[in-house]
Amino acid sequence: MHKITLIPGDGIGPAIVAAAVRVIEATGVRVEWDRQIAGMAAVEKHANPLPDATLESIRHSRICFKGPLTTPVGGGYRSVNVTLRQAFHLYANVRPAISFEGTDTPFHNINLVTIRENTEGLYAGIEHFIKVDEEKIGAESIAVVTRKGSERVIEYAFEYARKARRKKVTLVHKANILKCTSGLFLEIGREVAKKYPDIEFEDRIVDACSMQLVMKPEIFDVIVTTNLFGDILSDLASGLVGGLGLTAGANIGKDAALFEAVHGSAPDIADKGIANPIAMILAGAMMLEHLGEVDAARRIEQAVREVVKEGVYVTPDLKKDSSYGTDDLADAIVKKLA
Ligand code: NAI
Ligand code: MG
Repeated sequence: MHKITLIPGDGIGPAIVAAAVRVIEATGVRVEWDRQIAGMAAVEKHANPLPDATLESIRHSRICFKGPLTTPVGGGYRSVNVTLRQAFHLYANVRPAISFEGTDTPFHNINLVTIRENTEGLYAGIEHFIKVDEEKIGAESIAVVTRKGSERVIEYAFEYARKARRKKVTLVHKANILKCTSGLFLEIGREVAKKYPDIEFEDRIVDACSMQLVMKPEIFDVIVTTNLFGDILSDLASGLVGGLGLTAGANIGKDAALFEAVHGSAPDIADKGIANPIAMILAGAMMLEHLGEVDAARRIEQAVREVVKEGVYVTPDLKKDSSYGTDDLADAIVKKLA
């Protein structure tokens, strides 16, 4: 029996999390869910986006399955996602983007994994306005890159490549301009790479890399990069394989691991019943693999891929005029598993 903290999340979160829980339970793996809240849902109930009970539950279970959380843009409370990643030292954000048969995208044969440094960089939260009297005349953000933080995520990327029998690690940076922060990350990358002669290593500047991701995505295998670049490039990679409805991520750390979709709470389609649950379901598969339930994880991924390939019970993000929704797609996957 696995004990897992379950956070349904905001917007489309509760619907896709319910669908994913149904699929996970259909594998026969036994889970005891500890339901907790965070984000907007927690602000409404406890006036606190990250209640102590939620933190305590994760501290205890060390595994969290989380729906997307809404973060106010501009002002308002700090991102709960970022706070959770820092609180539990979830330093490696692993986001695979692997082509699906049956999706309407011009790109095929994509099989890459972005590993994003998840606790430092420009997301360290060191920001302020520069004010004269009460007028905002400017603003500053400080990017933090430490040797320890860089080493652990780059080493994770190489270890991951080895374990997954991948051949190449590409380190993405902007060291030509950001000579200190990006420069240090690259320098440490070169050092770490020497310990892994069996894995090819290369580096690319982030802007040129973005172009290559669109022109020749098949040349990428494992990408390791700093927080902001990884956030952007992993959404780009999601777009290449058919959209945000299809990609999941693991947040791996010293003290815990947290599994979620790459996408956010999608307020534009919340409560319409049409959100694609696949990203969340695949996050569930990544979680089961992490828990050692490798067979159940493979079965879920297989079932998802078959349902997408058949292209019948899919949500409108995958087939424009589809009249099927979140629950129909989850039903089709559960049926395949049986
Ligand atoms: P988003 O990822 O929620 O949505 C971007 C676009 O993709 C929207 O048009 C949405 O309808 C579509 N989309 C996303 N997931 C989908 C799915 N499962 N099925 C079908 N279509 C889907 O990004 P947005 O709108 O920029 O952010 C909304 C909120 O989510 C913000 O408050 C943001 O801070 C938060 N967010 C939370 C994340 C997390 O909890 N890890 C990650 C990213 C954003
Ligand atoms: Mg993002």
